[in-house]
Amino acid sequence: MYKENTTMNKLQKTRIVDLLQREDFGTGVQVKGWVRTRRGNKQVGFIALNDGSTIHNIQIVVELASFDEELLKQLTTGACIRVDGVLAESPAQGQKAEIQAKEIEVYGVSDPNTYPLQKKGHTLEFLREIAHLRPRTNTFGAIFRIRHEMAQAIHRFFHDNGFYYFHSPIITASDCEGAGQMFQVTTLDLYNLKKNEKGGIDYSEDFFGRQTSLTVSGQLEAELAAMALGAVYTFGPTFRAENSNTPRHLAEFWMVEPEVAFNDIQDNMDLAERFIKYCIKWALDRCQDDLAFLSKMYDNDLFDRLRFVVENQFVRLAYTEGIKILEAAVANGHKFEFPIYWGADLASEHERYLVEEHFKKPVILTDYPKEIKSFYMKQNDDGKTVRAMDVLFPKIGEIIGGSQREENYDKLLSRAKEMGVPDQDIYWYLDTRRYGTAPHSGFGLGFERLLLFVTGMANIRDVIPFPRTPRNAEF
Ligand code: 4AD
Ligand code: MG
Repeated sequence: MYKENTTMNKLQKTRIVDLLQREDFGTGVQVKGWVRTRRGNKQVGFIALNDGSTIHNIQIVVELASFDEELLKQLTTGACIRVDGVLAESPAQGQKAEIQAKEIEVYGVSDPNTYPLQKKGHTLEFLREIAHLRPRTNTFGAIFRIRHEMAQAIHRFFHDNGFYYFHSPIITASDCEGAGQMFQVTTLDLYNLKKNEKGGIDYSEDFFGRQTSLTVSGQLEAELAAMALGAVYTFGPTFRAENSNTPRHLAEFWMVEPEVAFNDIQDNMDLAERFIKYCIKWALDRCQDDLAFLSKMYDNDLFDRLRFVVENQFVRLAYTEGIKILEAAVANGHKFEFPIYWGADLASEHERYLVEEHFKKPVILTDYPKEIKSFYMKQNDDGKTVRAMDVLFPKIGEIIGGSQREENYDKLLSRAKEMGVPDQDIYWYLDTRRYGTAPHSGFGLGFERLLLFVTGMANIRDVIPFPRTPRNAEF
């Protein structure tokens, strides 16, 4: 039965994803993983074992008479085991290989009476409450493998296109977006705050000797780097204390921010479109099994939607034109919750109307009113709009926000002042415009928004391992 030279005690662990491809039946193999289910009869037990390497389980066939009764009792859902056995051709449909167990070791038992993950499907809401165990479900195994693949795709895309991965700081003293949605970082004793002469808090005593917060964006630092390295990107956690309890907002999310010297807004749009298509194609090429599972469970149109984005050109449209389309929709009886007029910040319902109802394609909206965009965006000659671009996606709304940057020192400074950005805090940012300034552009992709699109999941809390949202920071 055993091939020559194969003894059970010399076996090396093999990942299930690899074992399921093999056809060298009769070979001794070893797997380690968690019991998903156990069934069987008085003679044989069948264990579905999963080790996280694939959505698929491998079937372990256990001749009950050959094993100790105490050990057999421990082979319950959730238990962690090692199995040494023989790879065998599986008579079961849909899988080539199974393992006939010769030796089983239980690393960790799991009390079936209290283990929260039962065979029956659980709601996503319930699984959020047990976020420490949900990676053991098929759904979250698939999502987190896809999340990993998308991170790889991002690094590969930029690396292959001559970008440098630049690490912007997490703790910062400046508010890039100027929206005042920052989480403060302090070591001051909150029970005993010292005040300065003006009655304000004396931050000179704080850890950094000044007021600091968690960053909302790595853009300002990425711009400094682009003015030296040419093309860079950041990819890290960002934080926003906005109290929006929506399926698309997190208080802690990951953002990818490329910044490129000499790129204008057209180049920026080309880059964004090429980048996002590359990532989605990567998922289609490498995450077939996981996507197929998610599609079957949650979203039958998933593959069509992904392919559609890869294969079609995005619409490019000025904000002003977008407003006209939305106003015409209202005139024709379409009801929006929020009012629409030139100057309004678009709500997700407006963005989705343009994408899903009107164009039926991803849309890049440009040239927004300056009042609703950040101080750093390049001002257009009309005096009213800035060279902003938002990429709008089906089911998501805004997935990317970016712009060409204002490279003129005087214009940038006066806009910062107008918008109440304390210019003494960003003298270092303004310096780039004093010393060898250059036209440049960049954007930020919300990593979890991309994952929402790629996985077809409906709630952003389900595409990040441990979501941070208002009143929720468990695990
Ligand atoms: O549009 P935003 O605010 O742009 C910036 O932060 C720029 N500094 C980016 C740049 O030009 N380098 O954010 C960029 C993207 C959004 O399009 C959205 O996908 C995502 O970040 N995002 C969020 N994702 C999850 N939860 C939130 N609260 C988010 N806020 C923004
Ligand atoms: Mg935005």
